[in-house]
Formats: sequence, structure tokens, C-alpha cells
Amino acid sequence: MAKIQVDQEKCIACGDCATACPAIFVLEGGKVRTVDEEHCTLCGHCLAFCPAEAISIRELDPGEFPDIPKDLKISAETLGTFLRSRRSCRVFADKEVPRQALEKLIDMARYAPSGHNSQNFEFVVINNRQMVRALAQRTAVFYGNLYKMLSAPGVNIPPWLQTHMRGFRLNWDYYQAGKDRIFRDAPALIVIHALAENNSSAQNCHLAMAHIMLQAHAMGLGTCINGYFTSAAERDPSIVKELEIPKENKIFTCCTVGYPVLKFRKLVQRKPPSVRWL
Ligand SMILES: Cc1cc2nc3c(=O)[nH]c(=O)nc-3n(C[C@H](O)[C@H](O)[C@H](O)COP(=O)(O)O)c2cc1C
Repeated sequence: MAKIQVDQEKCIACGDCATACPAIFVLEGGKVRTVDEEHCTLCGHCLAFCPAEAISIRELDPGEFPDIPKDLKISAETLGTFLRSRRSCRVFADKEVPRQALEKLIDMARYAPSGHNSQNFEFVVINNRQMVRALAQRTAVFYGNLYKMLSAPGVNIPPWLQTHMRGFRLNWDYYQAGKDRIFRDAPALIVIHALAENNSSAQNCHLAMAHIMLQAHAMGLGTCINGYFTSAAERDPSIVKELEIPKENKIFTCCTVGYPVLKFRKLVQRKPPSVRWL
């Protein structure tokens, strides 16, 4: 059986499939045929464009292709305000995040664009405050050791690293005081990892993260990306041993998730964009 089938009875030869995906669909003599099917990335554009529901692909379930509601419309103004109102959350309520809510975030992450539609991002969801805290503590110890090493007499710290020294020290100071400056006592953490040796993995994971953060924002959840953890985990994999990240994978990003205590009342200023118009 061919991976892609065009039902000639249903096909109205409009050519939308060939316009959208000329690498696979050819409209010739009023008939659609497929070429090089093995190069199909299963992105589903052909199924989603076809007005006659004439295309089927073995690996794709038509039940996963619901109609886009005709009245779907978010004004550019509303979306802009929504994007501007997404802010990092660093003060979390003492309230667990229901598993269903976290499942929704992961579900929406899958719809992020990915290189060659590889969807190669993988997730570890830690919906356990104690475990999040343990990861934070190991990360803080990592930064404590790093700080001590870099502060030793005779160590020459390059200027770019100098700017991070205060943060390293604070992570350690907080830890010693029994506080969590890494994950800020968040109830949940989502870690995104993917094949290290893949050109698109970094972008794929970061885009999946953007989906998670925006979906979370729409659900009244707060998130914060954590670079401290990602950097520490890369340099000392023992920090994340129980996450069982496959050897060939790398953690590209992570974010805390929880219910925010504080409510932002204002949108925020950003630097003017650095743009060259050509
Ligand atoms: C790559 C990256 C790493 C980050 N790492 C941390 C972190 O380790 N700790 C933290 O509190 N915030 C972290 N943030 C959040 C940024 O500080 C935050 O996005 C920025 O200050 C803008 O604020 P906003 O997200 O509230 O708009 C990180 C953000 C990014 C994109």
C-alpha cells in the first residue's frame, strides 16, 4: 500500500496539494499523482488543504485533523497584548499543578514547528515539589563549587563570566540559607531534551517551550525558563541522573510551572529593536 493515497473518486483536481507541496504532488492531465513519497515529512499540509478529503496517508489519522472553526479569529491587538503580558513567574503559590493541566501543556508543545517536521523534542515532567527542590539543590551546589573555583587566587575570569559571578554566589548563598533561588520552590518542572547531534534540536526544543509558556499563560499558570539548570546539567550530568536522559540526547531547555502569587498590572517596556531594513 502506498503511504500516500489520492482517492480519484473524491479528488476534484483543484491542484491545492500540488501547489502546497510540489515535491510530492503533481497535477497532470487533470489527475493528481504522487512522487518521491519517501520524502514526505508527514507535515499534514496536503490533508489540511484538500477541500475534498481525497488524500490519506498511512501514518496519519484523519481523526486528528478536525476542521478549523470558521469563526477562529484572535485580533492582532489581542494577541499582541497577550504576548506582551506573558512574563516570567518566580513566586509560586503553595498549590500543585493538576496533571491534566501539565498534559495540556505538553500536548500543545507538539504543535510547535520543527525542522523537517521531526517533532524530535522529548519531555520530562517533574510534578513533584520535593524532586524539583532536590534538582535545585544539586544545581545550587554546582554553582557554589563553580563560584569557589573561579574566586580562587590567580584565576583569571573573562569579562563575560564576571557578569555571572554574582548570580553564582547568590544561588549558593540562598542554598545555604535553605532557600531555592534556582526553581523558586516551583511545584513542577518541564525539561525538554532532544538528540544532541541534530541541527534542528535546539530550535525545536525552544519553540516547543514557547508553546508551553504561552499555553500556560492562557491557563493562568506561571512559567520561568531556567538557564542555570540547563547549563549545570550539561556540565555535570549527575545532577539529572534520575531524569534518565538518553546518552545521545541533550537538555536544551526547561521551565518551572505553577500558579503565580503576584499579578502583573502593567505591560512592560522593551529595548527598541535592533533592525536593519534592506
Ligand atoms: C535562555 C533563558 C534562560 C533563562 N534563565 C533564567 C534563570 O536561570 N532564572 C530565572 O529566574 N530566569 C531565567 N530566564 C528568564 C529571563 O530572566 C526573563 O525571560 C527575562 O528577564 C524577561 O522577563 P519576562 O520573561 O518576565 O518577560 C531565562 C530566560 C531565557 C530565555
